[in-house]
Amino acid sequence: MPALKHGDLVMLWSPKKGDSYLVRLTPKASQSTHLGILRHDDLAGLCYGDPVLSNTGKIFFLLKPSMGEYMRRIRRQTQIVFPKEAGYILLHLSIFPGARIVECGSGSGSLTTFFASMVGTEGRVFSYDRRPDFSALAQANCERWGVADRVEFKVRDIGEEGFDESGADAVFLDVQAPEDYLQQARLALAPGRQLGLIVPTTNQLERLIPALQAESFVNIEILELFLRRYKATAARLRPEDVMVGHTGFLVFATLVRGQAEVAESGDE
Ligand SMILES: C[S@@+](CC[C@H](N)C(=O)[O-])C[C@H]1O[C@@H](n2cnc3c(N)ncnc32)[C@H](O)[C@@H]1O
Repeated sequence: MPALKHGDLVMLWSPKKGDSYLVRLTPKASQSTHLGILRHDDLAGLCYGDPVLSNTGKIFFLLKPSMGEYMRRIRRQTQIVFPKEAGYILLHLSIFPGARIVECGSGSGSLTTFFASMVGTEGRVFSYDRRPDFSALAQANCERWGVADRVEFKVRDIGEEGFDESGADAVFLDVQAPEDYLQQARLALAPGRQLGLIVPTTNQLERLIPALQAESFVNIEILELFLRRYKATAARLRPEDVMVGHTGFLVFATLVRGQAEVAESGDE
């Protein structure tokens, strides 16, 4: 097992209440916790899985942060896509190593980091945002996870100029008014492949359905995901008291050639 070195990302996890801290090992730096201080120089040279004591004698374990943990704790200035949705998006868009994915907006780069991790070294993510500050933040967050070299960040309003790419394996839109950009999405996506969207309100869904049909998208699927965590205590095994009630609605639709059937299916 290779020893940890400065520059590595480490999750400092305390068995007491499961408190944890995500740190990048940096020379001369230290991490303050309510259970004491840990000096990064003391952690370099240890391995993932090792225990370590803070200056007050409290034990921490050095864990390798998971993709999900990283996304949950990502430095953010926008709403982000959370791991709960990201996993399902991956399956539904049939993302594979080597895939070319187009997304807008980059936001804080939570989904960008995830996509870039999943397409592997052969794949490519084209990530658009009209705000240079958000694009820079997304890039910094991808760099922190070590996948920025798989992403092309483009500062652009896609309403004005659209996407540069065509024939993409998947397109994902996480923007305020996605119904305004479906033509741009259609031009970027390979026919037969999936467009994914996330929107927080049902009002947006109502506008999206006819707009998708007008742009030759069929097989429209709308869903939301609920995640219920359990207290991992064998003697009192039960759900957590508090649950996140709403994040967003996921929408998936397949691009076809020609005009999509505009008649809505469903209960008549
Ligand atoms: C909710 S954030 C995206 C969050 C991102 N998916 C993540 O997981 O971190 C929405 C982003 O879309 C960008 N955006 C909205 N409309 C846009 C447009 N027409 N062209 C480019 N970017 C746009 C905003 O600037 C914002 O950064």
